Amino acid sequence: MEKLIDLISGQLAQAFERAGYDASYGRASVSGRPDLCEYQCNGALPAAKQYHKAPMAIAEDVVQQLAGSGMFSLVEAVKPGFINLRLAPEAVADYVNQMAVSEKFGLQQENPPKSVVIDYGGANVAKPLHVGHIRPAIIGEAIKRIERYFGNQVVGDVHLGDWGLQMGLIIEGVRDKNPELPYFDPDFTGEYPTEAPFTISELEKIYPAASARSKEDPEFSARAHAATVKLQQGDRGYMAIWQHIMNVSVADLKKNYANLNVEFDLWKGESDAEPYIADMVQRFRDEGYAVESQGALVVPVQLPEDKKEIPPCIILKSDGATLYATTDLATLVQREQDYHPDRVIYVVDKRQGLHFEQVFRTAKKTGIIRPETQLIHIGFGTMNGKDGKPFKTRSGGLMRLEYLLDEITDTVKQRILQNDVITGDAVDEIAHIIAVAALKYGDLSNLATKDYAFDMDRFSATEGNTGPYILYTIVRIKSILAKYAEQCGTIPAQLTILPPQTQTEKDLMLQLSRFADDLTQAYVDIQPNVLCAYIYELSGAVNRFYHETRILSESDPARQQGYIGLITLAKRVLETCIDLLGFEAPEKM
Ligand code: ARG
Repeated sequence: MEKLIDLISGQLAQAFERAGYDASYGRASVSGRPDLCEYQCNGALPAAKQYHKAPMAIAEDVVQQLAGSGMFSLVEAVKPGFINLRLAPEAVADYVNQMAVSEKFGLQQENPPKSVVIDYGGANVAKPLHVGHIRPAIIGEAIKRIERYFGNQVVGDVHLGDWGLQMGLIIEGVRDKNPELPYFDPDFTGEYPTEAPFTISELEKIYPAASARSKEDPEFSARAHAATVKLQQGDRGYMAIWQHIMNVSVADLKKNYANLNVEFDLWKGESDAEPYIADMVQRFRDEGYAVESQGALVVPVQLPEDKKEIPPCIILKSDGATLYATTDLATLVQREQDYHPDRVIYVVDKRQGLHFEQVFRTAKKTGIIRPETQLIHIGFGTMNGKDGKPFKTRSGGLMRLEYLLDEITDTVKQRILQNDVITGDAVDEIAHIIAVAALKYGDLSNLATKDYAFDMDRFSATEGNTGPYILYTIVRIKSILAKYAEQCGTIPAQLTILPPQTQTEKDLMLQLSRFADDLTQAYVDIQPNVLCAYIYELSGAVNRFYHETRILSESDPARQQGYIGLITLAKRVLETCIDLLGFEAPEKM
């Protein structure tokens, strides 16, 4: 289906043309003054310059041409040359009826589909998932789902931090605790144990302890560096212990991400780039892209038009060690080979902006990635506490994701128990569903690049611009539908939405009809917050309609069926949108 705004623009374009003006001036936009009109066109103002005519005269010419159009109930020229439009009730009803029977509500798919890789999550193996990892998981998941909804071939990759110094630190930490383990015996040639020598909670203590020690103990730090290099060179015992770290850690990460409805297609990490590094570096040298600089190997990426200095991208350190940029570049080699992506989207902390600038420039300059491939860094801001400082636990430590989710779930649960609508086992299950919505919506409704304050009470409230409010709206519709079904036995399959008789009814239809417009904007701009704003408006429209309309006591069956059709569509659209945002609604709350 064509987007409603495009249909309106089409009518305007024809009218401009028939009136003797260029069709390109006929573009509609959603009205900034809903009290005056629903859509508007400002094209007469720029047209006035081209045709040396008063804008008002042009607007009046165009309005005349639209007189016969069945699409509008109001078309008027107002000073200084705007065209105000209201849609005919039949036209809006017709549009939402078409939406209701079209796949994906008539959304236009990407044709041909694009190949998209989304790099999000970015957890570091053996370090607990903390709040710093909440945003990439939540935002990346929503972006992935939206990309997929448009028909693209999308691969979501967690891109674990599994190859850096933290691995060497852990290996040395384990050695100090259990030096007798066969992994540390260079003469050992047998099979290594299949059981890991640590549990996840032990592992999570080993890393911070080792990290702290390396800062004070130069001998330990040197050992950890050496162990990292040895691991990266493929030492058999170290690889075996690394594999244990990975297994234990990834199992735990999967559980945590699953709790947030976050799923990855690929569980690759920095280590998977290793096989691509040697050839890539050799090619950089052979083709003259890489140069020696103070012992290191670098690719200069400064451009003459740059206003600020962009330091060269370091590929190898002077000791030959690879860096974060090296694995990111080699990962792009692998992604180009496996997916030939049209775009690669990185959802990573905005403080890594320079890193990605360097990596992207290097990738383009050296031809790792085709010139037309978009490399996009969605740099998100920090999640702060209410005090505006980075979010910490009550005792001041780094907040683990698990605990944060537990805390929200607890807050929500107290509320559920107070309301007393839900009892028994369902309480915990529903509290979890609502908590996930509170957390995710609280995050996603902000522009990703901005820092925001996490406010437990506000985010979990059922009133205001919150996840629970959206869920509450869906649950309310579900309950009306259940009552209606009870009243009349079954809900008819075909429910024709009738032309609206009241403004709230029309407003609900208008808001529904903007689904494709707003979702497309969220998709093109890669901004899930646009979709949040859409469902917040839609929920408001649903609730106003509900308050003003006697749905269940309507005596005209056709009208009543129309209402039911309308709220059914609203429910389906809301459910689709929250699924795209990565959460779901309970049956009751
Ligand atoms: N592990 C990294 C971190 O915690 C994030 C990885 C992001 N992805 C990437 N391709 N660099 O900062």
